[in-house]
Amino acid sequence: AANRTFSIIKPDATRRNLTGAVTTMLEDAGLRVVASKRIKMTREQAEGFYAVHKERPFFNDLVEFMISGPVVVQVLEGEDAVRRNRDVMGATNPADATPGTIRKEIAESIEANSVHGSDSDENAAIEIAYFFTPDEIVG
Ligand code: CMP
Repeated sequence: AANRTFSIIKPDATRRNLTGAVTTMLEDAGLRVVASKRIKMTREQAEGFYAVHKERPFFNDLVEFMISGPVVVQVLEGEDAVRRNRDVMGATNPADATPGTIRKEIAESIEANSVHGSDSDENAAIEIAYFFTPDEIVG
């Protein structure tokens, strides 16, 4: 069924002016942008968003990276949106990603990996609500 997922275009991609290139890859994968805004995340926002990773050794670097420049947060809609988005993103580490995926073609490293995408429908709903009010989503 058609449903929604949450995406972030990360600072490494916005810095290189690749917002459009990433969005085109998402659209070409069958996803529709139904909400989008460019923001500079606060440290508190980034720490809260990644709270599940707070015991990981890379947590502080991850937060610093995510607040190092603008990001574009988006709600994506499509058939089987979570899986479809994860397929086009590719593996977390670009070195492991399949050719044609966003991370293989665009990402710089496991940290500067250009995009975030929700890993489940449940987390998609939580992550969408973290950045968007219902009226900001126009399907
Ligand atoms: P994301 O999908 O946004 O969710 C958590 C992020 O942590 C992940 O993308 C990576 O960018 C980052 N990450 C995961 N593993 C590592 C790691 N070993 N070193 C640095 N960053 C990591």
